[in-house]
Amino acid sequence: MKIRRVPAAAASRGEAVFCFVVNGRPPQLGAPLAAVVAAAEASGDLQGKFREVTVFRQPAKAACKRFVVVGLGDADAVDTEKLRRAAAVAQASAAELGVPTFSLLVTAAALGKVAAADAGQAIAEGLGLGAYKYAPPRRPTGKPAKVVAASCQLAVVGLGKRDEVAFGRGVAAGEIAAAATVFARDLENQPSNLCTPTALARAAKRLAGGPLRVKVLDRRQMAKLSMGALLGVARGSSEPPQLIVLEYRVPGAKGNVCVVGKGLTFDTGGISIKPAGKMDEMRYDMCGAGAVLGLFHALRHGGLQGHKPRCNLIGLIAATENTIGPSAQKPGDVVTAMDGHTIEVLNTDAEGRLVLADAICYGKKFFQPKQIVDLATLTGAVVTALGHEVAGIMGNDQKVIDAVIAAGKAADEPLWQLPLWDCHKEQMKSAFADLANINGPQHGNGSTAGGAFLSFFVGDTPWAHLDIAGTAYGSRSRDYYKGGAVGTAVRTLLHWARAL
Ligand code: BES
Ligand code: MN
Ligand code: ZN
Repeated sequence: MKIRRVPAAAASRGEAVFCFVVNGRPPQLGAPLAAVVAAAEASGDLQGKFREVTVFRQPAKAACKRFVVVGLGDADAVDTEKLRRAAAVAQASAAELGVPTFSLLVTAAALGKVAAADAGQAIAEGLGLGAYKYAPPRRPTGKPAKVVAASCQLAVVGLGKRDEVAFGRGVAAGEIAAAATVFARDLENQPSNLCTPTALARAAKRLAGGPLRVKVLDRRQMAKLSMGALLGVARGSSEPPQLIVLEYRVPGAKGNVCVVGKGLTFDTGGISIKPAGKMDEMRYDMCGAGAVLGLFHALRHGGLQGHKPRCNLIGLIAATENTIGPSAQKPGDVVTAMDGHTIEVLNTDAEGRLVLADAICYGKKFFQPKQIVDLATLTGAVVTALGHEVAGIMGNDQKVIDAVIAAGKAADEPLWQLPLWDCHKEQMKSAFADLANINGPQHGNGSTAGGAFLSFFVGDTPWAHLDIAGTAYGSRSRDYYKGGAVGTAVRTLLHWARAL
């Protein structure tokens, strides 16, 4: 999606001029469109119901060929999520009309109580994410694909100089956030034979440059560091595992923060194999990695926008497959993580926590982080508990947890905290090793068990763990998400990084 900021007069002509409208208030669009709006109002069809689209065809002499209104509902109830969705609805309607480019006029009234910068960001995100479509590999037809609604002329009306500048800054932020989320979605949607650990590493390396350094550890280097937990998971696969390290240096920063992502490019469950139904969805088991790569995509493209975090940002991605082979680890096997903890692998399908354990150990040893945030499609239990619209969060430090929850709120990606107490940690002790990778079925708490396991490797470093198994894919349509991978948590991480 290409967004061009233009004056209102320039956005008032063309094939399709879109405008947001709130209940009971005809939009004030100025001279070029005064007659068009008056006619629309006279027709009685100018309504502001949220997501409702009305197309007013114009006579040949009119400024535009079609005037299209998209409803936002009551002005008092307008929020960033509604603006994001309405922008995506406008983009989809323009695509349906078959126009290559369309205009969108946003009046001061349409923003309700939303601050101009936040509104600009939400609208740009809605346009960029609404236009996203995964391009699957297909037999070439020789015909170039028709590109529709891929460019938008965006104008504000009646905002005042200060707000107009803020709106523009927001639009720039939204474009960066949307492009980063699209980058993550594209990796996440690819099947596991295309998006291998090696492909993830390659995608990460392509981001390198400027303040961002990327390096990748291979199986040998991981063995040298005694990453027995990660390598145990990788044993069943002929795809080489990769530990991806992204270092974004902030001038004058004191210390580091680590953002760790689970990068299971496919999870069969291993010897504790999963049922066949929907197993294809385990391609999405790298969405934690997707979120981390999305964040660094944004950082690389100016996503901090003048905000200056006090810490360098370090991304760590544990990428591997969890498959079955002659060397695959077996239930009851005991592995040793990088920090010396021994782990009884009672269920090979609880593999995410194993690979994260070594990635966290690596982060602690080489970066002594001030805080750690990890993201993982870790448990089916979090889907049972919270569904597909809310991700779980837990950790050992309320300040870190609260900062991530606040970022999620700003991004409209809600998080809900789950307890992580000593009683949960107790459940992870094993008779055959220091820890077991699962608690017993008698306990019932699946998601906090995953968090409790990780807590032993985090130690006393301030930490938050996000279980994104529910939000990574399969949520209801939100207009700017239409199926497949969500690119979840990229926008949350970006808000969080700006506030560090
Ligand atoms: N990748 C899965 C979790 C998952 C489930 C993600 C559904 C997305 C949708 C994870 O590796 C897993 O298999 N977890 C097990 C843990 C269990 C064996 C303790 C689970 O949730 O069943
Ligand atoms: Mn698993
Ligand atoms: Zn998994």
